[in-house]
Amino acid sequence: MRGVQISYLIEHPEYIPQLAQWLFEQWDSILGEETPEARIKKLKTHMNRDKLPIAWVAHANGQLLGTAALRVHDLEGREDLTPWLGGVFVGSHFRRQGIGAALCAAVENGARSRAIHTLYLFTLDKQAWFSRLGWTILGPCIWQQRPGDIMCKPLQTVADLVSR
Ligand SMILES: CC(C)(COP(=O)(O)OP(=O)(O)OC[C@H]1O[C@@H](n2cnc3c(N)ncnc32)[C@H](O)[C@@H]1OP(=O)(O)O)[C@@H](O)C(=O)NCCC(=O)NCCS
Repeated sequence: MRGVQISYLIEHPEYIPQLAQWLFEQWDSILGEETPEARIKKLKTHMNRDKLPIAWVAHANGQLLGTAALRVHDLEGREDLTPWLGGVFVGSHFRRQGIGAALCAAVENGARSRAIHTLYLFTLDKQAWFSRLGWTILGPCIWQQRPGDIMCKPLQTVADLVSR
């Protein structure tokens, strides 16, 4: 897709209602949420660039395409691991065009530029997709009574390259 831009969510609050609706539809069957309202609240906490959590949005020509976030914690009971790539979502009409991969890369770059050396994520079913993006499985986990995996990715920072 041409003209895809990735920006901080804080620069595009106009996308919050659509994002909340997408995330609500994706997860309500698992989380039992009744309305997208809680999603709007959670997204608003991600309107940062100088502290976590931070959300990014992919968009083109005023059209929202997807989102991803960098969070201190993302999985109850695993507060020993930090920080996390979370909330990765691409609108169903815009998938399979590399937008998800670009969003993950934006979060990784954001983490790198904040001197973060390792990122974590958990996924119920996208292990193969994340593996192709350089993530490896750290171990199994349970989320909402469902089995998934924690994955991790070491990030090379500019400082690492210079000190070699
Ligand atoms: C997982 C998800 C974010 C992927 O987003 P995406 O934008 O489709 O991702 P990409 O386009 O980067 O890669 C997806 C696929 O398209 C392929 N692809 C990438 N660029 C492509 C291109 N230009 N042409 C055709 N295929 C392409 C990739 O190889 C990959 O193949 P696969 O379907 O066999 O795995 C998206 O499917 C989604 O939002 N799913 C629902 C929410 C979710 O599960 N999030 C993850 C929670 S852990």
